[in-house]
Amino acid sequence: MFTCWKADSKLLPMSHPAPDPHSHPELDADARALLARAYGLQTQADSQALYRDWATTYDQTMLDGLQYQSPTLVAQMLAQALPHSAAWAQAAVLDVGCGTGLAGAALAALGFAVVDGLDISPEMMAVAMARGAYRQCLQADLLAVLPLADAAYDAAVCCGTFTTGHVDAGCLDEIFRVLRPGAPFAFTVKTSEWERLGFQAALERLQTTGAARADSISPGRLYANSPEPDGMFCLVRRSAAA
Ligand SMILES: C[S@@+](CC[C@H](N)C(=O)[O-])C[C@H]1O[C@@H](n2cnc3c(N)ncnc32)[C@H](O)[C@@H]1O
Repeated sequence: MFTCWKADSKLLPMSHPAPDPHSHPELDADARALLARAYGLQTQADSQALYRDWATTYDQTMLDGLQYQSPTLVAQMLAQALPHSAAWAQAAVLDVGCGTGLAGAALAALGFAVVDGLDISPEMMAVAMARGAYRQCLQADLLAVLPLADAAYDAAVCCGTFTTGHVDAGCLDEIFRVLRPGAPFAFTVKTSEWERLGFQAALERLQTTGAARADSISPGRLYANSPEPDGMFCLVRRSAAA
């Protein structure tokens, strides 16, 4: 059983059985092997080795093979959270766990022009920078203090990084620190990891202390061909007074 917030902060019961993440007959053997490594990550060293090996084929696997749609949907969520589209070209946006830059490309297509990427993998960020959608990319560990100034960004996005064996909700305090008061953070969490990675507890704490406010937390499909919702799509703002 999971719970989710709507903008009125009521807790709503929801249940989502997770699909089998290990059967992907649509992928070739190399892609399946890389995906199996992704699902089995145990350490940061495993993660960095995986993304070093995957960087050049990641987009093909995720887009053509798996019909990955989270970056597009998260960019759209962010755009809806910043209703004055004339300001999108100037808004400084941080793409957290940017990988090869799929979210940056989706943001650029909407008119966002000041997007910075942050990731632990230099190989993934090299692909991201080659897209031309980022002002800069920064190598940093989301599980540590970020080398970024307080309130430096007008918005943030994150997709595909709050998932099995990756990054847990311990990073949220740092992400909200680098957002200006009132700034939105649009992100996905793999539904089956929602509680285990601490997002339920962390978002309750941030709301209770007044540090952040959830505009919406809704189930959705991370992949266009997911048989059922497998992600939580979240729009959470740093509190205006924080
Ligand atoms: C599945 S990819 C998602 C990339 C991109 N956001 C997307 O949706 O395609 C996960 C990314 O998280 C990054 N990552 C994993 N652990 C990290 C950490 N501790 N700090 C920063 N980035 C991390 C990986 O290097 C990888 O690029």
